[in-house]
Amino acid sequence: YVIGVDLGTSAVKVLLVNQEGVVVDQVSRPYPLIQEKAGYSEQNPEEWITQTVEALKQLVERFSEDPSAIEGLSFSGQMHGLVLLDYKRNVLRNAILWNDTRTTRQCQDIYAKVGKDRYIDITKNLALEGFTLPKLLWVKENEPDIYQQAEVFLLPKDYVRYRLTNQIHMDYSDAAGTGLLDISAKTWSSEICGRLNIDSSLCPPLIESHEFVGTLSGSVAEQTGLSPKTKVFAGGADNACGAIGSGILEEGKTLCSIGTSGVVLSYEEDGSKDYQGKVHFFNHGKEGAFYSMGVTLAAGYSLNWFKETFAHEEEFENLLADLSDVPAGANGLLFTPYIVGERTPHTDALIRGSFIGMDSSHKRAHFVRAVVEGITFSLKESIEMFRKNGKNVDSIISIGGGAKNRNWLQIQADIFQADIVKLASEQGPGMGAAMLAAYGLGWFKSLSECASQFIQTEEVIHPNPEQAERYKGLFSIYQKIYKQTKDLNE
Ligand code: XUL
Repeated sequence: YVIGVDLGTSAVKVLLVNQEGVVVDQVSRPYPLIQEKAGYSEQNPEEWITQTVEALKQLVERFSEDPSAIEGLSFSGQMHGLVLLDYKRNVLRNAILWNDTRTTRQCQDIYAKVGKDRYIDITKNLALEGFTLPKLLWVKENEPDIYQQAEVFLLPKDYVRYRLTNQIHMDYSDAAGTGLLDISAKTWSSEICGRLNIDSSLCPPLIESHEFVGTLSGSVAEQTGLSPKTKVFAGGADNACGAIGSGILEEGKTLCSIGTSGVVLSYEEDGSKDYQGKVHFFNHGKEGAFYSMGVTLAAGYSLNWFKETFAHEEEFENLLADLSDVPAGANGLLFTPYIVGERTPHTDALIRGSFIGMDSSHKRAHFVRAVVEGITFSLKESIEMFRKNGKNVDSIISIGGGAKNRNWLQIQADIFQADIVKLASEQGPGMGAAMLAAYGLGWFKSLSECASQFIQTEEVIHPNPEQAERYKGLFSIYQKIYKQTKDLNE
């Protein structure tokens, strides 16, 4: 058996997976977000440890075999969050998370000091509020006492791995989201560190996602009941692990994952590919590979907002049942999901969402359909970016909350104009983490070989030509809304 630990934003989920790739048990434990001010989003790293150890303990308690049958463990983690440790390896402040947007000024500073084109050249990405480097600069400016004590920075799951093994590392797939990594060269950028006056000794040693880092520490083995011989493998960023767990392991494979945020992600073999920062470009959890990715900040979050505001007594399933009561296009009602700003394609933290085309005949069901279609249109903008860059996007594997509803899957097929693949017993990033442990242990010759055993297709949903045509027209109207509403938000 192997364990995949998925350190998410709202909870940690641990999956116990057997050698055939079957999830035999899972435990999830929540932790809170700390939002002291508008735009702030933090977490106390100690909560991750408490809940991860507790989740592992519960998993072991329910396991009927000898715990030494659990041979390996690896991680998937929420990306970009800053964890600062002092020389005694104590946490210096709360972690600042990926969805924290306090760092607009630091992003401008990065461009001013490194040069925007040069920065994108090295990191392959824009300097965005969510990424780690601007957070590090924010602490340097606003909490100099803390910054001075910092010995090393880590990302969330790296800190959990450290506490489980006493080893300090960061894997390339997560390091790629710091904004400090030279993506093609796979080294920390001394040029960026130099220009921003950051001591490069703050950057941890880099490692591949499937690499063995050590065995569990004696105290963690004791607390959880796991064997102290359990081998721990580095793991990867949640999006990289979502890709591994869905078999996005060769050129031509595309993933759509709709959770709180939504991503469209495409496998890349060639690390010199240049999207000029228009989509994210990160190292994959598969050695030597990369992926490009567009992000819709409020995907499931938009639907959740709508439910909490207008239908909080309703179950999600009932709300989504409304989808089938309304035709494609929601009788002229359009929604843009920019309720917390937008990343791809606009990278605009100030833009806000809208409903356009309201009619006195519209019922709640029209609004639900418009919200779902708006989220899907936003993801289509990322897909169009890939297509414009010569990618063939004929078939997309869909995972996450957006893949749980059959009508939404059909809407994805119709709006994306692509076949949508639904996986059997899809487990997302936690499965990717388990696969990294399985591969790291040597159960398989490659991650692809592991994927062919662990991942099965349940259904392929084809576009309906009539609906696809209707959505084509609506998409061009949707795309105009951003430009027309931008001035209202400045
Ligand atoms: C990716 C991003 C989110 C987080 C969520 O750039 O910010 O998808 O990884 O954990």
